[in-house]
Amino acid sequence: QDLFETLAAEIEVLKKERKAVILAHYYQRPEVQDIADFVGDSLQLSQQAANTDAEVIVFCGVHFMAESAAILSPNKVVILPDQKAGCPMADMVDADGLRAYKKRVPEVQVVCYVNSSAEVKAESDICCTSSNAVKVVQSLQGDNILFIPDENLGRYAAKILGRSLQFWPGYCKTHDRLSKEDIQRAKNEHPSAKVIVHPECREDICEAADYVGSTAGLIKYAQNSENQEFIVGTESGILHRLHQVCPEKKFYLASERLVCPNMKLTSLEKVRDALKNLSPRVTVKEEIRVKAKAALERMLAL
Ligand code: 13P
Ligand code: SF4
Repeated sequence: QDLFETLAAEIEVLKKERKAVILAHYYQRPEVQDIADFVGDSLQLSQQAANTDAEVIVFCGVHFMAESAAILSPNKVVILPDQKAGCPMADMVDADGLRAYKKRVPEVQVVCYVNSSAEVKAESDICCTSSNAVKVVQSLQGDNILFIPDENLGRYAAKILGRSLQFWPGYCKTHDRLSKEDIQRAKNEHPSAKVIVHPECREDICEAADYVGSTAGLIKYAQNSENQEFIVGTESGILHRLHQVCPEKKFYLASERLVCPNMKLTSLEKVRDALKNLSPRVTVKEEIRVKAKAALERMLAL
């Protein structure tokens, strides 16, 4: 704890010197969330990145999030404290694969989950996050639509809207670990708890849940619910914010395996060093950036 306080104080000083803003995702370690200027879900973080006056954005999250910030704010220095913090789901689709698909299926409209590279976004028509996927798909006409890379989120949106979509075989390695048996076990232990899950979970899990939503959606639901207990089907980092906003309620992680190793790579030491060295920096080639920005901005305009 003393070490955390010392590091937090150092970060505070460096942050002012660098005119930096620290953005953190809800899946980050508690101590990292605590030193952030803003903690949010992917959509809120991209909105913050697009609107900040800061000169430096320190992104405590994974690579695609920092990359989106660099796409939206090209004149800012965007830092990802650990270069290795990637997203395995984002790596499940690449621009060559997507181009080949588009060749095979002419006129296909591509909805791209933000958990993807800038190159893939540049080949897509519109981006979405887990909190607006339904709205984004709804905004498109016709039935020749491909949803990439998360098949679970795509199927969830398609089902809500009663639309038929084409899917890409991508998934989140963390959420995909959650099984029906895990949910059943948690329900047996906590029979009056509501089950709240992220749409990156498998279809059968979403069907068995009381509420499905993005991280921000899950937090809001828990806050507004009369219920006092919740079984939580998303990455463990969210528990920190849930306990902060609902200190009187009880939250049970649906499985101990709901930990995204990439989200946990960011530490206070790395945030401090990143501010000191203004590195590792995330940049995007201008021709890719402009195209990817169009897909992101089409989403943000909705
Ligand atoms: P949200 O922030 O949209 O809930 O997405 C979760 C996620 O997997 C980010 O990596
Ligand atoms: Fe990627 Fe899943 Fe980790 Fe989010 S939780 S960064 S989707 S692997």
